[in-house]
Amino acid sequence: MKIAILNSGGNSSASNVVLSRLVNHFSKTATVFAVYEGFEGLIDNSFKILTTDEVNGIENLGSIFLKTSRSAKFLTEQGLNSALKNLQLREIDFVVVTGGNGSIMGAKRLADNGIKVLTVPSTIDNDLGYTDFCLGFHTAVFNAVDVTKKIHDALSNDERGAVIETMGRECGDITKLVAKKTNADYFVVEKIDENKIINKADELVKKGNESPLLIVKEHLFDVEKLAEDLTTFTKKTFKSAIIGYIQRGGEPTKFDKDLAVKFALKIVDLISENKFNRSVGIKNKQIIDLSLNEAISIPKQ
Ligand code: F6P
Repeated sequence: MKIAILNSGGNSSASNVVLSRLVNHFSKTATVFAVYEGFEGLIDNSFKILTTDEVNGIENLGSIFLKTSRSAKFLTEQGLNSALKNLQLREIDFVVVTGGNGSIMGAKRLADNGIKVLTVPSTIDNDLGYTDFCLGFHTAVFNAVDVTKKIHDALSNDERGAVIETMGRECGDITKLVAKKTNADYFVVEKIDENKIINKADELVKKGNESPLLIVKEHLFDVEKLAEDLTTFTKKTFKSAIIGYIQRGGEPTKFDKDLAVKFALKIVDLISENKFNRSVGIKNKQIIDLSLNEAISIPKQ
């Protein structure tokens, strides 16, 4: 049997755990190919057979062993055809894709063209509706909470307010959980009138809050300007910080590593039972699998 594994989208380091577990599990019964740089690697024929020695230690890495990419080429007819040709030439039986929203859509594109695929949710954004958790989300929140607390510690020393911008693309999960875990005074996950934020901050300041902490999801406001406006209106100095890629780097947390092991075991079961075109996930603490079509159709709440 031949299995190809790729990671697509933004990096989420626990994908390495899935890779290492699959290589180790199948070392004697199958050939496992690494496909480098996601769907780009399928198109560019960037395959390599992996040995257990090569994946030794990768579970603690903070970046993706396979590298990752967002491939515009794969969305073209020509790109898709090259990918299919390279898979067919090698007679690949299964393609395992780790990634988020775009990756599952990419996997579907392969499935629609006769390739057997399995997907593992792995994105810090946690934006897949069918699963409670995607790999990388817990690590991103852990990193963001750590740095937010440090920034707030520093600013509260001088009785200044903090506006922290978190990642998450269209999904507010990181923002909400970081706000909860840092006891933030306010969080914003959708576009609202800036005056609403200013009024809230003003209220906090008037009530005697010496260092209001506001957490704002990315792509909504210019947080530097927001901090300036808050300073003007509340007469308290506010400083902003875009914490950015700190959220996406670093060794995965134990939660993410353990979840990745469970996802990998589920993939092993599915391959052993010759089940394909399915996505694995976790719902109410149970590891689940469902058809790709179903997984794609469930909206994120
Ligand atoms: O999808 C993960 C993510 O970190 C998002 O939260 C963010 O919007 C995006 O990637 C940034 O992507 P890039 O690094 O490609 O600009």
